Amino acid sequence: MYSAGILGIGSYAPDKILTNADLERIVETSDEWISTRTGIKERRIVAQDQATSDLAVEAARKALAQAGVSGAEIDLIIVATISPDMLFPATACLVQDALEANNAAAFDLSAGCSGFVYALVTGAQFVASGLYEKVLIIGADALSRLTDWEDRRTCVLFGDGASAAVIGRVPEGYGLLASVLGADGSGGETLMLPAGGSRRPASLETVQAREHFIKMEGREVFKFAVRIMQEATLQVVEKAGLSLDEIDLFVPHQANVRIIEASLSRMGVPSERVFLNVDKYGNTSSASIGLALDEACQEGKVTDGANLALVGFGAGLTWGGAVLRWYAGGNRSDD
Ligand code: UT7
Repeated sequence: MYSAGILGIGSYAPDKILTNADLERIVETSDEWISTRTGIKERRIVAQDQATSDLAVEAARKALAQAGVSGAEIDLIIVATISPDMLFPATACLVQDALEANNAAAFDLSAGCSGFVYALVTGAQFVASGLYEKVLIIGADALSRLTDWEDRRTCVLFGDGASAAVIGRVPEGYGLLASVLGADGSGGETLMLPAGGSRRPASLETVQAREHFIKMEGREVFKFAVRIMQEATLQVVEKAGLSLDEIDLFVPHQANVRIIEASLSRMGVPSERVFLNVDKYGNTSSASIGLALDEACQEGKVTDGANLALVGFGAGLTWGGAVLRWYAGGNRSDD
C-alpha cells in the first residue's frame, strides 16, 4: 500500500454575496436570528448562467495548478454533489470534459455534506492500492438552485461553492492516516429533496407542492449532527493512534457554529484549533470542508506535518471523518 495525501487544494465561491440583511427582504427573518442560531452572516450565490460543474471546474483548476499536475495526468475524477447539473450524465464527466482530463475515469458521489470526506477517502483508496497515481476529488454544490426561497427554515442556511484536491502518493507517515465513513438511511427523510427522481418524477403536481426544493427537519438534523460529530471525531482520531490534543487543526463541516460548539467545544477542543468560515459562506454542503481546509491553508494555519481532523455529517444521513498528516512538499506551488 502507498501513502496517499493531498498534493494540491483549491476552492471557489461565486461572486454574488447574499447577506442576512438581503434575506430580511425576502422572508420573515432577521440578521439577529440567523447570526445567533447559526453564526452565518452571508453566503455566495451562483450567477444565472452558472451550474455546479462550473464551480467544480474553477476549484479543480486551482487544485491542479497548486499540485503542478495537468488535466491529462489525472486518472480519476470524483465529484461529490447533491446538486448535479442534471440527473445524468454525471457532473464528474462534465468536469472531465472541461479540464480535458482525457485519461480520467469519472463518477459522482452523493453523500450530502459529508461529500468532501467521502470523496477524499474514496479517492485515497485508489492511490493507496496503486491502481491510480493521481485522483482529483471535488465537492461542489449550488444549493441555491434547490432552495425554497419562501421557506425561512432552510433558505437562510445554504450557500454555493466548490472545493477540490489532487490526491497522490506522499512519503510514508504523511497523508491519510485514518478514516471513518458511516450512514443511517433510516434518517434520510429528515433532509431530502422529495421529487424529480424515479420515486416522484417531475409533474405539475410535484412542482405545485414545491417538492423540488430541499425539505429539512432542522431540530432532528441538529441532534444527529452534535452526536455524530463527537462520535466520529473520537473514533477517527483514535484510529489514527492520536489523542485530541495531538490534532493541530479541526476542520469540521461548516453548517452551524452551534453544532460545532455543542460537539467539539464540549469535548474540550479549544476554539483556536477549530477552523471556521461558516460566517462568510453558510453551509456549502459537499464543498464545505474542502473550502474551509483551503482557506486554512491560505491563512498559513496548516504547515508541513500538521495533524488535521476533518469531520462532516449530512443528508443520507451520512457522516465521515478523516485524519490527515499534511504534506507540504512535492510540486506544490502556492502561487
Ligand atoms: O449540513 C446538514 C444540514 N443541516 C443542518 O446542519 C441543520 C441543522 N439544524 C440547525 O442548524 C438548526 O436546527 C436550525 C438553524 C435549522 C434551526 O435552529 P433551531 O434553534 O433548531 O430553531 P427551530 O427550528 O427550533 O425554530 C425556532 C423558531 C421557530 O419559531 P416558533 O415555532 O418557536 O415560533 C421557527 O419558526 O425559530 C423560527 N424560525 C425562524 N425565525 C426567524 C425558523 N427559521 C427562522 C428564520 N428566521 N430564518
